[in-house]
Amino acid sequence: MEQKLATITQSFEEALASVENTHGLEELKVRFLGKKGEVGKLMSGLRDLSNEDKALAGKGINILKKQLAEALEAAQDRLKVIEEKKALEDQWIDVTLNPAGSESGSLHPITLVHQRLEEIFEAMGFMVLDGPHVETDYYNFEALNFDPHHPARDMHDTFFFNSGRLLRTQTSPIQIRGMETFKPPIRMVGTGKVFRCERLDASHEACFHQVEGMMIDKGINVGHLIHTMKVMLSEMFEKQVEVRLRPGYFPFVEPGFELEIACLLCKGKGCAACKKLGWVELLGCGMVHPNVLRSGGIDPTVYSGFAFGMGTDRLAMQKYGITDIRHLHNGDLNFNRRFSTASGYKVF
Ligand code: PHE
Repeated sequence: MEQKLATITQSFEEALASVENTHGLEELKVRFLGKKGEVGKLMSGLRDLSNEDKALAGKGINILKKQLAEALEAAQDRLKVIEEKKALEDQWIDVTLNPAGSESGSLHPITLVHQRLEEIFEAMGFMVLDGPHVETDYYNFEALNFDPHHPARDMHDTFFFNSGRLLRTQTSPIQIRGMETFKPPIRMVGTGKVFRCERLDASHEACFHQVEGMMIDKGINVGHLIHTMKVMLSEMFEKQVEVRLRPGYFPFVEPGFELEIACLLCKGKGCAACKKLGWVELLGCGMVHPNVLRSGGIDPTVYSGFAFGMGTDRLAMQKYGITDIRHLHNGDLNFNRRFSTASGYKVF
């Protein structure tokens, strides 16, 4: 028996040394430890032995079985590592490489506008904040001084979830989240997607984009608001922009304004683009309502502030001369390619 064990051990070791992959290892396992394998055969041979010899031989076989199993397992671990490494090497691709003949990607015009706005505001000491798309009624309406049944809520055509949460209809919830997180003086802006159940046409989309901004400190007044808006727009359009304020209603500002700019195409003289008015409505703004400051944990008897919110889709349209808002969302590469820096299109 000892002789037999030694022979099996030897042939196993020889076979193992020439195994090159886990598949070969599997075959080896069947050959030696399988039901009809070498070890199995030894086991069936035990029948013919005397009880005494049987016990002794059985012990020997079990030890051999264990040794072979351990050797197989160690080899399995070793080969697996080698195979994985080889697979990684064989299947490696450079995901940053352009397929032959294709152009490199480009940033979407909205992204470009947001990045530029953030840059302009950061240069004026504003921090850039973000907020969730799925909001609560509290952040989107209540904390912003919308009464539960105020008709202003209807103007927003909100998408509600069954849970009572909603898709934010404006970036103004970022004001509340910002005030909750930071103490005045606060200068913040935030850009992002907003959602309203709109009927789609050339200037309306159910998902569009806004930039929101807020400045809170002691003694902030409308003059600060106008100056900041003028700087933002002049930087954005790379020319001096004339602005004017008209009264506008938003529950979270008092007084509230619609800010208009002198039409960039006719310089205020009146043309088709501005419907012969000479002025184009661009954004909502105003002095932060005391109730909103209170929602943010800020004492309105000590601090005041201004806030503004602007649709950036229309801004991008004006900036780049895009005539239909739906171009911005339909993923047409021919359209997007125009904004590719690689194509030489000068963006800013
Ligand atoms: N959130 C307003 C809107 O979506 C815009 C706005 C923001 C107005 C801040 C005033 C102050 O229409």
